[in-house]
Amino acid sequence: MEKILIIDDDEGLNHFLGRFFRRKGYAVTACLSGRAALETIGGQSFDLILLDYKMPGLNGLDTLKQIKAAQVKTPVILMTAYGNTDTAIEAMKRGAYDYLVKPFERDELSRVVGEALQLNRQMKEIVSLPDALQLSDDPAPRGALKIIGQGKKMQEIYKIIGQIAEKDVAVLIGGESGTGKELVARAIYHHSRRKNKPFIAINCAAIPENLFESELFGYERGAFTGAERTYIGKLERCDGGTCFLDEIGDMPLLLQAKLLRVLQEGEIERLGGRQTIRTDVRVIAASNKNLEQAVREGNFREDLYWRLKIISIQLPALRQRTEDIPALVDYFLARFSAEYAKPVRHVSEEVLNRFRTYTWPGNVRELENCMRRAILLCAGDLIAEEHVDLMAPRDASEMQASGADPLLAGLRDKLQTIVPEILRLSQDHVHANIIDIVEETLILKALEACGNNQVKAARMLGISRNTLRHRLKKHLKPTD
Ligand SMILES: Nc1ncnc2c1ncn2[C@@H]1O[C@H](COP(=O)(O)OP(=O)(O)OP(=O)(O)O)[C@@H](O)[C@H]1O
Ligand SMILES: [Mg+2]
Repeated sequence: MEKILIIDDDEGLNHFLGRFFRRKGYAVTACLSGRAALETIGGQSFDLILLDYKMPGLNGLDTLKQIKAAQVKTPVILMTAYGNTDTAIEAMKRGAYDYLVKPFERDELSRVVGEALQLNRQMKEIVSLPDALQLSDDPAPRGALKIIGQGKKMQEIYKIIGQIAEKDVAVLIGGESGTGKELVARAIYHHSRRKNKPFIAINCAAIPENLFESELFGYERGAFTGAERTYIGKLERCDGGTCFLDEIGDMPLLLQAKLLRVLQEGEIERLGGRQTIRTDVRVIAASNKNLEQAVREGNFREDLYWRLKIISIQLPALRQRTEDIPALVDYFLARFSAEYAKPVRHVSEEVLNRFRTYTWPGNVRELENCMRRAILLCAGDLIAEEHVDLMAPRDASEMQASGADPLLAGLRDKLQTIVPEILRLSQDHVHANIIDIVEETLILKALEACGNNQVKAARMLGISRNTLRHRLKKHLKPTD
């Protein structure tokens, strides 16, 4: 359970926040003063700290300083009254992750807290390299994620990681979907000199184009209608740390130019701002697209490409390193049987053979999901063929030969029987609910079939990429 510490001299607010977060399943500790909080922090660690700016006794900024000395990685969100945003921004320069202006809305609170907790997970969940290759003397902590694979191709990858992790250079990671690009990015971070500074991950394919610039570079109050307060962008917030730009091929061209400036001069400007702000960010970028081709087609800036490409790591597809499959299987077996408390210990020879010859279009992620499912379904201690569900190449070609028409007719038949039943039992929003379910299934399955490539999935569905993005965003929205 994630642990949140609330520090505020206002008992009413403490009470409200405590209830709000307990309901969401977090463990909450509340303190009424900075001193009490520091004592609490001495005894235990937290995943997130909400800190009031103005308190009698030790004030927010001094408390922040001491918190940062004791728990470097825990994100701190400062709560401040309206009109004090300048001080809040000052606090962000001193290590606060974000700020909230009192009185705040629940939505705003949930969003800011959600982001901070995600940052906390990524910073604290260590990704370790194989034991023999650990760069430092510290043994991998228990529960750390591991990069698995001792074959030649992965050895090459470890070698590069070892050579560059501690150097402060930008890195470009390529490879098909599910090959471990994000895992490698996080391993580099955990073995870098910036390991105690923020690690902020941004998925360039998931941010709508009109919000992209403000997300990354921030904006000044009044920069556009609705910009009610200064917003510190991710790149500024990441000062001293590492920024992981996933799916960099989807970054709009205009922003590519601005990113290049960050890499070359370490400078940004907030939207609507006149002041140049210095920020020192190490960029690790990833792409499952062929960026060289994007450069040729004019969708990716050549200068940025060359700048990033200086150090590049190309991850092999799983089918190109089948020698690592048994080790990966053992690793997931151990992890998930522990997670689900199931005594599954082995995988049958037939299944392993099947794994070795399968093409794994979704790479390690597909294997991981396949193992998760098999362990959940398995009743004994052995995973056999009936627990494993892989796409048979034969089925795929058969389906293509006969076309989808009979399947669509089948869908219509099924709907004929299910829909009346749903209509009988549902009350509100039945139309929207059904359409949502169908649409969500369509989009997620198309993405799965296309290795998460949005362009291909949109083409497969016969909709525009923008439509796909918008719908995806709608369906992936957390329900709380
Ligand atoms: N070598 C590996 N050892 C152990 N786990 C791995 C390895 N490679 C990938 N995984 C696991 O597979 C899943 C997918 O990995 P990751 O998210 O890093 O892939 P990706 O290349 O970023 O994919 P995408 O392009 O779809 O974003 C993760 O859960 C990750 O932990
Ligand atoms: Mg990824």
